[in-house]
Amino acid sequence: MSFYVTTPIYYVNALPHLGHAYTTIAADVLARHMRQRDEDVFFLTGTDEHGEPVADVAEREGVAPRELADRNVVHFKEMVERVNASNDFFIRTSDPEHAVAVQRFMQALYDRGHIYPGTYEGWYCPRCADFKNEQEIVDGNRCPIHKIELNWEKEDNYFFRLSAFQEPLERLYAEQPDFVMPRARYNEAVGFIRQGLEDVSCTRARLRWGVKAPWDESQVFYVWFDALLNYVTALAYAREGEDLTERYWPADFHLIGKDILKFHGVIWPAMLMAAGVEVPRHLFVHGFLLMQGEKMSKSLGNVLDPFQVMDVFGTDALRYYCLREVSFGQDGSVSTEGFEARYNAELANEYGNLASRTLAMIARYRDGVVPAAEPSAELAGDLDGLADAVRKRFDRAELTAALEEIWSRGVRRLNRYVEEQAPWVLAKAGETERLDDVLYSLAEGLRVISVLLHAYMPETTTRLLDALGQDDLSLDGATFGARPGGASVGKLPPLFPKVEPAQAA
Ligand code: MSP
Repeated sequence: MSFYVTTPIYYVNALPHLGHAYTTIAADVLARHMRQRDEDVFFLTGTDEHGEPVADVAEREGVAPRELADRNVVHFKEMVERVNASNDFFIRTSDPEHAVAVQRFMQALYDRGHIYPGTYEGWYCPRCADFKNEQEIVDGNRCPIHKIELNWEKEDNYFFRLSAFQEPLERLYAEQPDFVMPRARYNEAVGFIRQGLEDVSCTRARLRWGVKAPWDESQVFYVWFDALLNYVTALAYAREGEDLTERYWPADFHLIGKDILKFHGVIWPAMLMAAGVEVPRHLFVHGFLLMQGEKMSKSLGNVLDPFQVMDVFGTDALRYYCLREVSFGQDGSVSTEGFEARYNAELANEYGNLASRTLAMIARYRDGVVPAAEPSAELAGDLDGLADAVRKRFDRAELTAALEEIWSRGVRRLNRYVEEQAPWVLAKAGETERLDDVLYSLAEGLRVISVLLHAYMPETTTRLLDALGQDDLSLDGATFGARPGGASVGKLPPLFPKVEPAQAA
């Protein structure tokens, strides 16, 4: 089966921050997990390069928008690589192939009568590249997200007949209760649709940096129409000489932040319906990472630098922290203190220690060979069915819930098991058979949880599985007791070494 997951494409008007890394990490975890299930995965990320957000900053910096985009895209590509994302393609909306495909799609909407000329007037936020209605604006006429003053704009442009999709959208939401997840976001989207949909302007007359409307070249497409289409256009040219659209569309999951729900939950499905193209299966809407209670963003200057964190603690620790600390789908606070606390308590002490103790005991008591023995019945209670529970969570992109389950039924349970069984006492007392069972069960439990954790922490779990003499990452193999003993274990330097405060500062 095919599985297609996307991140939003990021604006190249500033440098990447943890908020961007967050969705990229989440999408990667989902993609890696599905590959472990032997799905035919396609994972797309990229950059949103047209429109006011980029043109305005370029103008302020006195460079051409393309130059700004070329300069900043490097940092986004670097971020994607540094977080160890296994994306299959990186789209830039300035790719000529994308522009041609946008023109073709929009021309088809125009030809089908979904687009007509009109005049727009309203409060406009250039950072959001969005008009705001009276209920949305705060403190007089400020953007609720960027807190900047909005501009009153009026111009002749073209409108997309969104109002015509009121009923089809209501039907879509009624028929597909999982179209938007979590439920609260579904309700929000439905509420928005029920307020009554107005047509939206889909071109800009004043702007030059964008894809030209083929039927009126004095206009470029409003950046959101151009951007949303990336999810479809990329499939046609990601592989040279091959069109992947049939194979992967409709997308299984668009992962998005809560600020861009309206575009993805309302405008995007309406555009697709207008073109007679299938809508995506699910949108999963995550919350904001907050620092000191505010959304982290470059413009607010309260940024936790993901690069610094990865330099000191490694990529896997950042990946783990992002999905563990903040329940995926909710807002939540992040902080350097919170990060260090989880790094020490959970990664170094719980998982890292479990790994090094297990390997050390196998080396010491059994000459480095996992004994052939029976899986412990006590552990089976928690470990049997864990992989299935994790699968179910992943089917709904519940990445934090899945991780919590692996941690409590797996990592913590195994640590308790070590304490309960006290293998060192068994060794002293010469209880050979019992010790064999315990060491085998620990190695096997560690293998199972490491396969399940692999999507979250690919580097660390690979090192650990290597040391356990195991290389099968398939979810099907993540069954407690499925592998016999007999493997030789290797040496393993600490998975999560203690970091000196000076290094962390
Ligand atoms: N270019 C548009 C998306 C177009 S998709 C067809 C855009 N770009 S963005 O760079 O401003 O934001 C990209 C994503 O990052 C959004 O999903 C947004 O919610 C997310 N985040 C930005 N800051 C964030 C946090 N502080 N926390 C979590 N995610 C946040 O919007």
